[in-house]
Amino acid sequence: MKLLLAPMATLSHEALRNLIFRFGGCDEYYCEMIHATSLVSGGKFEEYYIRTQPEPDKMVWQLTDYREEALKEASKIVSELGGIGIDINMGCPAPDIYRTGAGCAWMSKSLQEVSSMLSKVKSVLDSSITSCKRLSCKIRLGEEDFTIEKLFTYCDMLVSEGVTQITLHPRTRKEKYTRKARWEYVNQLCEYLKTKYSSLNLQIIGNGSIFSVEDAISSIKKAPNIDGIMLGRSAIQKPWLFKQISSALSNEEFKTEIDLFELAIDFMKDIENCQPQEFWKTRKQRFFIYFCDNFQFGNYLKSQLINNDGFEIQKNILQEYFEKMPSERFLTI
Ligand SMILES: Cc1cc2nc3c(=O)[nH]c(=O)nc-3n(C[C@H](O)[C@H](O)[C@H](O)COP(=O)(O)O)c2cc1C
Repeated sequence: MKLLLAPMATLSHEALRNLIFRFGGCDEYYCEMIHATSLVSGGKFEEYYIRTQPEPDKMVWQLTDYREEALKEASKIVSELGGIGIDINMGCPAPDIYRTGAGCAWMSKSLQEVSSMLSKVKSVLDSSITSCKRLSCKIRLGEEDFTIEKLFTYCDMLVSEGVTQITLHPRTRKEKYTRKARWEYVNQLCEYLKTKYSSLNLQIIGNGSIFSVEDAISSIKKAPNIDGIMLGRSAIQKPWLFKQISSALSNEEFKTEIDLFELAIDFMKDIENCQPQEFWKTRKQRFFIYFCDNFQFGNYLKSQLINNDGFEIQKNILQEYFEKMPSERFLTI
């Protein structure tokens, strides 16, 4: 069972990968979505989106755009960086992405239009001279009126264009994150595709609402033939969760003590190493939104950290919190 880091804008960057790597890493690191047009036009911050550490061979480049030419040209750039392959973002429901015709909007376009875009990206991957060869897509269930048959037809088209890994986040566009991910649809899609294309080595990945080892095990029980599970928000809150899940699945013992103060400090330092100064504030804020859920008075700590900026100030806030709540500083798992 593969374990994958989800693409998350402003979050799935090198500093988060470094943090996950401290606990043993994962099998595939999807990067935060890269806007193809900006990459091609040499945007000021693009070099930060295409960093590859700490495990360059395990990178998956997620591209977002509505323009097929931009996606093709961006594919040329990222494929030269190596890694596993390119993923097309077909699941993002954010209004400013969706409105342009990118993200989840791809799932409502004509199959010919999507095929045309995918064949262009695939042609780049086919001629790639690096390890970057695989074409994958990350999808949702679709719009509110989705049916499983429509989803099957859409995925038939993806497969016919050479997509060999499909990640399903089983929520509709409008559901965003409100209701629980519906893993029964991951199972139905997996069974359909694996039966129909048994001669192809299609990889089906399930994603959504895995926050613990127990969630991972119960999701896999619901979709037993999937090839992997992808973690998003929980990977930020608990970067050690990949290791915990992989140990549990292989019946290995994994015990460690984590100093959460030291972890937060190291992460803040790493943000300053891996990101442009213009991003330091927002990237730390985004991290603390999820990381503070580890603590009893997490909402208080979160608001303190988010409303104050600067390494030393935030370090002091953390220090004061752990002085008041010393038992929360060290986590034994
Ligand atoms: C802050 C944030 C940013 C996200 N950005 C992306 C993105 O760039 N591309 C994408 O395909 N999905 C994106 N997602 C969706 C996640 O990849 C994932 O599908 C979703 O969070 C559900 O998984 P989870 O329950 O494990 O968090 C984002 C989610 C969050 C919370």
